[in-house]
Parts: sequence; C-alpha cells; structure tokens
Amino acid sequence: MKKVLFAAFEGLPFIKTGGLADVVYALPKALNKEEYEVKVVLPLLKSVKQKYYDRLTYVDHFEVHSGYINEGANVYTCDNEGIEYLFIENDTFFNRDDVYGYGDDNCRFSFYNVAVLEMMIKMDYYPDIIHTHDYHTAILPALCKLRFNQNEKIARIKHVFTIHNLVYQGIYDKQVLFDFLAFDYRHFANGPLRFNDLCNFMKIGIEMADIVTTVSKTYAQEIQTSEFGEGLDMILRYRNQDLYGIVNGIDPEIWNPKTDKIACNYNIRNYLKGKAANKLALQRELGLQEDPDAFLVGMVSRLTFQKGAELVANMNGEMLKKHVQIVILGTGEAKYEYAFRMMEDWNKGRACYYAGYNEQLAHSIYAGIDMLLMPSLFEPCGISQLIAMRYGTLPLVRETGGLKDTVEPYDCYKKTGRGFTFGPYDQNDMMNVFNYAYETYTKYRDDWKMLIRNAMSYDVSFAKSAKEYEELYSKLTK
Ligand code: ADP
Ligand code: GLC
Repeated sequence: MKKVLFAAFEGLPFIKTGGLADVVYALPKALNKEEYEVKVVLPLLKSVKQKYYDRLTYVDHFEVHSGYINEGANVYTCDNEGIEYLFIENDTFFNRDDVYGYGDDNCRFSFYNVAVLEMMIKMDYYPDIIHTHDYHTAILPALCKLRFNQNEKIARIKHVFTIHNLVYQGIYDKQVLFDFLAFDYRHFANGPLRFNDLCNFMKIGIEMADIVTTVSKTYAQEIQTSEFGEGLDMILRYRNQDLYGIVNGIDPEIWNPKTDKIACNYNIRNYLKGKAANKLALQRELGLQEDPDAFLVGMVSRLTFQKGAELVANMNGEMLKKHVQIVILGTGEAKYEYAFRMMEDWNKGRACYYAGYNEQLAHSIYAGIDMLLMPSLFEPCGISQLIAMRYGTLPLVRETGGLKDTVEPYDCYKKTGRGFTFGPYDQNDMMNVFNYAYETYTKYRDDWKMLIRNAMSYDVSFAKSAKEYEELYSKLTK
C-alpha cells in the first residue's frame, strides 16, 4: 500500500473558493483504495472551525520554528467519505474570515508548508508521495530536499506538483525564503530558489518537484509558450520531460441531476421534463419572467479577466436583443460587477446578477439554464463546463486549455458534439457562435436535444484521470 499525502489550501466539503477545492476532494476519492492510502492536509481556517469543529478529533501539538516564525500548532483529524483529512490549527495565521488576500499571505503559506512537515515528524507519518497543489503548497518539495533532507524519511519522499493556474505564482521579496522559510542562502545565490532577485513559490515547485502536472493536455502545451507561460515558460520547457497534462473530472455524487437538491431530479431519459421544471423554478427564484421558451443562459464564475467576463459584459446587451434571459452568479473585479449590475437594472425580469458565492444557487443554475457561457481567455481545465454537461446544459466556450479538450463543438452536418466553441478571443467571434447556438435552440430542436444527450453521456468523472495519476505515482515509487 502506497501512502499519498495531498497538501492543499482548500478542499471540499470544508473550504472552497474555486475548482481547486473540487479537485482536492474528488481526486483522492477516485484513486484506487486497494493500492493507495490517501490523506489530505488542509489549514484549519476560521469558517471550517466554526462549521466542522464537532467532527474533528484532536491528534497532537507541535512547534513550528522557521526563521522569525515561532508558533505552536495543533493537528486534528476527521474522516470524510473514507478519506482522512488532517487540519493544522494556528490562530495567528488561519483564524481569518477569508482564505486568501492578506498582506501576510507569504508568511501564512510559509508557515503552513513548514507546519505540514513538522506535523509529519510529530505523527511519525511519512508518505511515499506528497502531492502539492498550486503555489500555496509549492514550496514543500524544496523544504524536503534542501532543508529537512537530514531526515532520511523525509528525503526519501517523492513529489508531484500540480499547477491548477499558472497566473497566481506567489512572487515575494526574496527575504521570505530566509526570514520565514529558513533556507540556506547558498540555495538562492545561484541555486534553484532564485527567480531573478525574488522568491517565486510556483517556480520553485516546478523546479523541485519530481513530476509536474497540470490539469489538461492543451494547457500543458500552452504554458510552454511565451503567450501562456506567465514568465515561466522557459523553465516549463526545461522540465518538459517531467511535465504531464491530466484533465480534471468532477465528483459524480456531488454533481448528479438524479439526486441533487434541485427543483426536479432528472436523467438522460427524462431531461426534457426535468430541465423545463428546473428552468421555471430558477426563473421564479431569481425574479425572471416565467417563460419556458426564453433561451436562458448563464455564468457561474469568478469574474476576472481569465474567465472572459469582459466579453459577456460587453455583449450582454446584444444577446438580450433576442428572446434571451441571462443569469450571472459570481464576484470579482469591480468593473465587471458594475457592468452586470447595469445589465440587471436595464433588463429587469430578463437578466439577473447575483453578486456572491452561493453553492446551492450554483446547482440550481446548472440544472435550470440552457447554456453556460465560459468564453475564457485561458482556462487550465475548467470545472464549470464539466458540471454543465452533466446537467444537460450546453457550454459555449473559447477553444483554450481544458475547455478545448472537453467540449467537442457541435457539427450540424455530422450531428456530433456537446457544446459550442469559438477560437479568437474576440467578442464578435463569441457572438457569431452565440447566434449559432440560439438558432439551433430555437429552430433545430432535434439537434439541440441530441447535443444534450451527448453532453449528459460524456464521462466527466475522475475515473480515467485518476488512473493516469496512479501511473505517475507508481513510476515514482517503483
Ligand atoms: P476556477 O477554479 O478557475 O475558478 P473552475 O471552473 O475550475 O474555475 O471551478 C469553479 C468552481 O467554483 C465550480 O465548481 C463553480 O461551480 C464554482 N463557483 C464559481 N463561482 C461560484 C459562485 N459565485 N458561487 C458558487 N460556486 C461558484
Ligand atoms: C484553477 C483553474 C481552473 C481549474 C481549477 C482546478 O482554478 O483556473 O481552470 O479547473 O484550477 O484544477
């Protein structure tokens, strides 16, 4: 039995700000339990403590001394659906309302990475593999190989680092490496910790992990180019032999229109009735006109430049000239929030902007809308389009990253596909495809239904990708 420790900063059902949490929950569940004993370590953030404290069991106390950091920490354990979760408690760094976005995030992440290792030592638990996710935990391989390497059990651990989003790198003053992570200067001087004259957690993860993965095949190629490489394309090309693209899946139980707490459950046989009932319920809930024939489109997303919010902000007026309704759920950059507030004000009863994070509403939207808008500028994988397809909601996406790999475009001649796609990041290109989708929805109902059936029968589970991760794990541990 091989031991794998997932180290991340968010994971369902405890804490989620985006797709990372979906993956940190769904992938461990999908790995073969006969071969892998997986644990997940997360910070005990304030909201988790408030909601789940009764389910946690205290394990131990340990100390974290790292540069200027001198803190105590506790570790708690909790079983969730057969996976053991470990939570690191420290009020100085984790007792906060939000997950990210603090001026001392560099210190919080530094503390967390060192604390994971101190926790392992205290618990005498040494996994065969540590699987780290995004820049928040990217420093762990370097800590194991350069600072804790006197401990043979730690030095032996292999490292898989998954890039979920290359844009967020954790670039800080180089002093972070010495003041909070207590690295030796020689590893910076002309060693792997250096990034120009700065510290870059993402870069260190890419350089020090044994295997680097990212969340789709296309994104794995894209990030090796200067267009998508975010300044790290050179090092990604250098690690090319150890870089793999493995597409995400979703948890088939959390996201299941047959059992979900939505207005009306449905499956691939009765989706017409089911989707119509959910559409009506959604229109009612959001104060939209109860209109079964309106083409109801939506977005469930962080409203950032990544997600193509700009295209939808610019073109919603154009879309609404047709028999269309729009619902947007999400928060983000002020200019997009403002644009969507205006959209709602000018189109009462036909457009709704819900500014916030709302898990239940997200489920109702995926079930109730006809089409999901996801015209991302770039998209490492994307979880929303996978959920949409499972709910028989056709995605309209830009052909980038995981969107390109998962959404096969409608071909009206061959009668194939499960969504609509466009190439250049251009609002007119998006509108051409939007109009094509609208026409298909209104005039070619049989094709629309065929696309729904294709989308609903497409395998969006983690099963296949979990096998690919297992192959990498066994490559490292044989
Ligand atoms: P990213 O991780 O880049 O934000 P993904 O498509 O991979 O994008 O994952 C987004 C996840 O977060 C999906 O599960 C989506 O349903 C969810 N989500 C995004 N915004 C909201 C919101 N405002 N309320 C509820 N869920 C949201
Ligand atoms: C990131 C990416 C998104 C991906 C998610 C989970 O947040 O932006 O595309 O689906 O991570 O891997």
